Amino acid sequence: MEQKDKGSRVIVIGTGFVGSSYAYALLNQEVVDELVLLDLNKEKAEGDAMDLNHGMPFGSPMKIWAGTYADCKEADLVVITAGANQGPGETRLDLIEKNAKIFKGIVEAVMSSGFNGIFIIATNPVDILSYATWKFSGLPMNRVIGSGTILDTARFRFLIGQYFNVDSRNVHAYIMGEHGDTELPVWSHADIGGKPVLSYSNIDMKQLDEIFINVRDAAYHIIERKGATYYGIAMGLVRLTKAILRNENSVLTISTLLQGEYGLDDVYLGVPAIINRQGVREILDLKLSNEEHDKLHHSASVLKEATKPVHD
Ligand code: LAC
Repeated sequence: MEQKDKGSRVIVIGTGFVGSSYAYALLNQEVVDELVLLDLNKEKAEGDAMDLNHGMPFGSPMKIWAGTYADCKEADLVVITAGANQGPGETRLDLIEKNAKIFKGIVEAVMSSGFNGIFIIATNPVDILSYATWKFSGLPMNRVIGSGTILDTARFRFLIGQYFNVDSRNVHAYIMGEHGDTELPVWSHADIGGKPVLSYSNIDMKQLDEIFINVRDAAYHIIERKGATYYGIAMGLVRLTKAILRNENSVLTISTLLQGEYGLDDVYLGVPAIINRQGVREILDLKLSNEEHDKLHHSASVLKEATKPVHD
C-alpha cells in the first residue's frame, strides 16, 4: 500500500493553561494531523490527551497523544509554552532566571531527538527565550520564532476597532518591540481599510494613548482578575502555526532576530515579518517616525541588557 504522505506533526512542550488552550484551539480549528503533548507532569499530559481525544467525534480526525522527546524527531513544529508565568504585579522580565534555566534542558532534549523543524516560543520573557533557543539549538534564525507582539497587535486592533466601531479584521496596525513594558504602538502605519488612523480629523490623541496603555498593560489586568492569560495567546499561536504549515506568506508581528533591520543587531524582538513553511521569510523594515524609531531602540537596549546572561 503506498505510504500516505506524512501529515503535519506539532509537539507542545508544557500543557499548562497556555499549552492546553493552544492544543484545544488546534483541535477545534482542524490545523494539524498529529498533536503530541509533553509535560514534566506526564499524568497531566495524558489527561489532556484523553480529554481532547474524547472530543474528536465532534471535530475532525487527528492523532493526539502524550509523548516523549523522541516524538520531536518527526515533528514539523515544536511549540514551547513550559515555564513559570507572571504572578500578580510581576513583569515578564522578572521570569528570566526561572525560565532560562529550564529552557537549556528542553532545547537540548529536543535537538538530541534529531529534530530538524521550526521552534515556536511562547514562554515569557518570550524575546529573550527565543534568542536563547536560537543560541542553544544552533538552528538558523528563520526557524526559531517567538510569539513576540502577535497578541499585543491583536489587542491593539481589537481596541482600535472598538474605538472606531469597525470590525477589528479591517484594522491594520502593529505593536512592535519587547512583548512587555517597553513595546510601542506604530501609529504612523495604522489604518482602517486603508484610511490612516491619524488622518481622522476628530481623533482624540489622549484616547489613542489610552488605547495603547490598555494594550501594553492588558496582561496585568487579566492576571489580576483570573490569575493568568491563555485564550488570546493560544489563538495567536494557532494563527502562527497555520501561517507556517499552510505556507501562507502572511505578515505577523513575531519575535525574530534582527541583523541590521531598523538599525538593530543581535536581538530578538517583535517586528512585522512574512511567515511561511520555512519560518521567517523576510522582516518588513518599515519607515518609522523618529519617536517610534527611538522607542524601538530603547526596547532593544532593555532586551539586550536583560539577555546578557544568555549572550555570554
Ligand atoms: C500576555 C502573555 C502571553 O500578554 O504574556 O497575555
